[in-house]
Amino acid sequence: IGTALATVLGALAGVPAAAPALAAPGNPGEPRYTAGAPSAGDPYFPDQGNGGYDVRHYDIALSYDPATRYMDATTTITAAATQDMDAFDLDFRGPDVTSLTVNGHKASFTRAGQELVVSPRPKLKAGQTFTVVASYAGTPPVITDPDGSIEGWVPTDDGAFVPGEPQGAPAWFPGDDHPTDKATFTFHVTVPDGVTAVGNGRLVSKTTAGGRTTFVWDQAEPMATYLATVTLGTFTVAESVTPGGVPVYTAVDPRLATQSAAAVARIPDILEYFSSIFGPYPFGSAGAIVDRAPDVGYALESQTKPIFSSAPSVGTMAHELAHQWYGDAVSPARWSDIWLNEGFATYATWLWTEHTGGATAQQTFASSSNYGRAATSSFWQVVTADPGPEDMFGNVPYNRGAMTLHALRGKIGDAVFFKLIKDWVAGHRYGNASTAEFVDAAQKASGMDLTAFFDVWLYQKGKPASW
Ligand code: ARG
Ligand code: ZN
Repeated sequence: IGTALATVLGALAGVPAAAPALAAPGNPGEPRYTAGAPSAGDPYFPDQGNGGYDVRHYDIALSYDPATRYMDATTTITAAATQDMDAFDLDFRGPDVTSLTVNGHKASFTRAGQELVVSPRPKLKAGQTFTVVASYAGTPPVITDPDGSIEGWVPTDDGAFVPGEPQGAPAWFPGDDHPTDKATFTFHVTVPDGVTAVGNGRLVSKTTAGGRTTFVWDQAEPMATYLATVTLGTFTVAESVTPGGVPVYTAVDPRLATQSAAAVARIPDILEYFSSIFGPYPFGSAGAIVDRAPDVGYALESQTKPIFSSAPSVGTMAHELAHQWYGDAVSPARWSDIWLNEGFATYATWLWTEHTGGATAQQTFASSSNYGRAATSSFWQVVTADPGPEDMFGNVPYNRGAMTLHALRGKIGDAVFFKLIKDWVAGHRYGNASTAEFVDAAQKASGMDLTAFFDVWLYQKGKPASW
């Protein structure tokens, strides 16, 4: 999924895409084996993603002991080759690889930075489905982002907090770490008895033997790698079902039970409200993980199970649940499109606030932390649709992104706007979409030329004065 796009992005970023396989003169149709590209070509994270194949499924089996911080893991990747291929890259920053096979044959590999370069023998033909089995053991790393925050595998006092946006997934499993290559996932996590391991999707089984418990989680809808988690620790678990029939699994650090109770209790209401305006909840399960990871300091919309590094407010809960539609079901085509995640999730909380009797979206739009900011504020100097890797989780994609949506709503009217954002999810769920596609969809839905509108809100610096 996404290799054509990756090739285009690669060309844009000047990253060499793998040469097309040409038929050999005199030997028409004979395979020409080349190496898959080492990158998806996203300029924000040029090492991310790879070419030459699409991942279909990750099966990640790991055991982890919080006391020693030691992980022992085997990841099985099922993928389809998109070219005749004699080598391909996986993104991996985890511990020592102890064995690696492709289609059951031992494969040689090298590691450099986050690239794990695999040379399969026999070589792979375009269209062929293949299986990579990689085993590794040791302590998975904490990864530092361009904005200084941490992600990857973050040890806590009773387990590990596991966020992966935008580049943490390779800390604990090898793969194609760009949002454009979505896949289904199964996790088998073995931890000491008393520890609960929570993954994306549905809990398939929980079995105990010899002092250890194995949790099996299955994420049946396609998921971007950055949304994978197996956050583990001492948790109080509760299971329920929303009025709309979605099972909800919550895991809460008992030390945060009181502080987080109000936000956790609102999950069904928030999901019902968002379903009414954004369309049906896009996944077969929902939930939340409330943990204590003070060095992380942010929450993340891990698919079906947003993770919170401290007790969330109701607003933060609403933000992460809104991401299930905008971010998770529909993911950015490249990281510069991050406002499509953060602007939508922020706008969703404005709508939730109004829905629950607080400030109206118009009041929030006009407030001093939004449009009310002085024109001289440095806030207006970051471009919404290209904030750069250091500011991708700064105020602008969130607040100017939400302002863009509110201004658009004013411009095209409520009926067209709400149909547009609902159709956006229906049309792109389980895939990716870009800012250009959103602009196009808004113009088609409204029948208006919105070039100048989107130019001032998304592509130009400066406080929009009229639109
Ligand atoms: N997407 C998350 C949220 O707003 C924020 C992730 C921040 N990650 C980071 N590495 N700074 O819900
Ligand atoms: Zn967000």
